[in-house]
Amino acid sequence: MSEHAKLILDGQPVELPVVVGTENEKGIDITRLQANSGYLTLDPGYANTGACKSAITFIDGDKGILRYRGYDIAELCEKSTFMEVSYLLINGELPTPEEFARFKDKVLLHSLIHEDMKNFFNSYPGHAHPMAILSSMVCSMSVYHPELLKPNPNAKETSQTITRLLSKVRVLAAFAYKRSVGEAFVYTRPELDYVSNFLHMMFTTPMRPYEPNETIRKAMDVLFILHADHEQNCSTSTVRMVGSSKANLFASISAGVCALWGPLHGGANQSVIEMLEDIERDGCNYRKYIEKAKDKNDPFKLMGFGHRVYKSYDPRAVILKKYCDQILEQLGINDPILDIAKGLEEVALTDPYFIERKLYPNVDFYSGILYRAMGFPTNMFTVLFALGRLPGWIAHWKEMIEDPTTRIARPRQIYVGPTVREYVPASQRA
Ligand code: ACO
Repeated sequence: MSEHAKLILDGQPVELPVVVGTENEKGIDITRLQANSGYLTLDPGYANTGACKSAITFIDGDKGILRYRGYDIAELCEKSTFMEVSYLLINGELPTPEEFARFKDKVLLHSLIHEDMKNFFNSYPGHAHPMAILSSMVCSMSVYHPELLKPNPNAKETSQTITRLLSKVRVLAAFAYKRSVGEAFVYTRPELDYVSNFLHMMFTTPMRPYEPNETIRKAMDVLFILHADHEQNCSTSTVRMVGSSKANLFASISAGVCALWGPLHGGANQSVIEMLEDIERDGCNYRKYIEKAKDKNDPFKLMGFGHRVYKSYDPRAVILKKYCDQILEQLGINDPILDIAKGLEEVALTDPYFIERKLYPNVDFYSGILYRAMGFPTNMFTVLFALGRLPGWIAHWKEMIEDPTTRIARPRQIYVGPTVREYVPASQRA
């Protein structure tokens, strides 16, 4: 017999089915609660609310487990590539060699943007944040592909939109950077893989071709894999929410880029570096910043620490910390902010404030140090996160439109405003 939860409301029992996931996660299905009892649930920040069933990513926040389609994140970083992980997330299975070759060919084929779009880039002020440019450009792509606007899960067009997005968003990101530094746009080279092409578009200049360095290429690939999905986070939920109104994929992804920008989400990687630089300027006294983070009268937070789901070490941060040491050593870089980061972490991990609240470094704590070592400017860090997260956003959008039980996302509220009152003419208002 299936399990039920029983709620007593106004003295009446309300039975609610219990749903169990494949990893034995349990939830109470409240789909019929409002209709059967008149009651809503209240859950600010949705910390206890499952908005959908999903077969893409599994996280166990207490044990520090992260798996894409059942595959452990550490194994994927070691043995796979970002392109293969993108295929896996979007299609549900690892590709056969033939499927993979076709997929990579299609991504390569679509790596040009409409030449007219270059005019948009030139109209932005030089100091424009690349995240603002990226979100606008992703949405603007819809203008050039009106035939791809209908979200039909089975249509060939949807698969085309997906490959187009995967290929072109990195071009938009690289062009946004080139615009911000006033350099000429650089096109992809057919013989390069996805990640090498991105590095080439970012760093080649007419005076100096960028020769992708294998250490940097591998680190970039791993960073993208680590960011590729994270189940119902703020930006992915935004993509699902916008997409649930049947908005097209370009519009849905553009909304996801905006949601990611905030410093409590993907924008944290930029904020971490700014925080570490502030600490360096302030004489490297990181203990002072630990005290500031604990002070409830001080708005300062330790950026790159804490997570809604992980209540132990973020498995992505474990991998990145190891990479930071290796990469900086291989590139011969001695960055004082890595020492500050390690010092902060060491103190925080033994401080009762952080222990009691289970606050550990998250993926953003070390990613910025790596991006910086690779030569990316700080305002590009969140764009890099967006590039990595793109296949995850696409996979969730696809899963959502393919699910016949999907309804438009429309949360409810408990109204706490004034009750009915009469309009007061302007002349009688005090
Ligand atoms: N520094 C100091 N205290 C913190 C921090 C932090 N970074 N994070 C949480 N806390 C404290 C809170 O003040 C709160 O304390 P209290 O119980 O005494 O009130 C307690 O820990 C619980 O924190 P919440 O804010 O309730 O946790 P929530 O799940 O809502 O927020 C979040 C998670 C947004 C990630 C938060 O930890 C934070 O702001 N971290 C810094 C920003 C950051 O690194 N964001 C990246 C997240 S990973 C990602 O999106 C890719």
